Amino acid sequence: MKVAIVQNRPEFGNVQGNLNRIEEMLAGRAADLFILPELFATGYRFKDMDEAHHYAELVPSGKTTHFLISLAKKYNAHFIAGLVEIEDDCVYNSSVIVGPKGLVGHYRKIHLYDSEKSCFHAGKDAPPVFDLDGVKVGVMICFDWRFPETARSLALKGAEIIAHPSNLVLPHCPQAMITRCLENRIFAITADRVGEEERIPGEKLIFIGQSQVVDPDGNILIRASETEEEVHIVDVDLVKARDKYLNSKNEIFKDRRPDLYH
Ligand code: ACM
Repeated sequence: MKVAIVQNRPEFGNVQGNLNRIEEMLAGRAADLFILPELFATGYRFKDMDEAHHYAELVPSGKTTHFLISLAKKYNAHFIAGLVEIEDDCVYNSSVIVGPKGLVGHYRKIHLYDSEKSCFHAGKDAPPVFDLDGVKVGVMICFDWRFPETARSLALKGAEIIAHPSNLVLPHCPQAMITRCLENRIFAITADRVGEEERIPGEKLIFIGQSQVVDPDGNILIRASETEEEVHIVDVDLVKARDKYLNSKNEIFKDRRPDLYH
């Protein structure tokens, strides 16, 4: 299976320009699953919930989901990407999962980071696992990495790959995701952005790039730069994620002792 990470540099608020840029970046590429960053079309730092509300879209009828479905048809692939979602006047930091036949599902971020708490509502549903043409793909968003229960619960639900749209500002995530992969014997695909935003004077955010694909043995199959827009396509061998044995005696899920910890 071929997976793609797309690392972009969105200009805050220029949704159409950012969508156009993604189209340019993908021209001539082929993969089965494309992962794009969190909030890839709007930019990240909303000033408040009113501003997030202004950019929010219904799923699946909104512009960004439409755009992603058109790409999924064109590339005959699945896409997982972040956007601002609105439902019943609540605004969420979401990811949508789409394929050639349309919307497959969505996930609303459950662990909101810092100022996100004044811009979004936290998701109320557990991170989901989708069957995409026989491949079990779990979804989490950026800061969810900091809570190992997120990746663990996805893996226990059968995820072989975790798709991880991100806008990373803390330095530790790329390394931490190696541990998440080792703990769960899964692939993790983190699609991050690059660039800076200073929407509030004195509160500059620098996004760290380093989008990556990590395998169940903790190998970094690809890691993008900290500063450039990049697309990388990597072959992943799912057999590795389906085998939870470390050796003939240790199967990492069967050896857990949930009777001794919660
Ligand atoms: C983050 O969760 N985007 C830092």
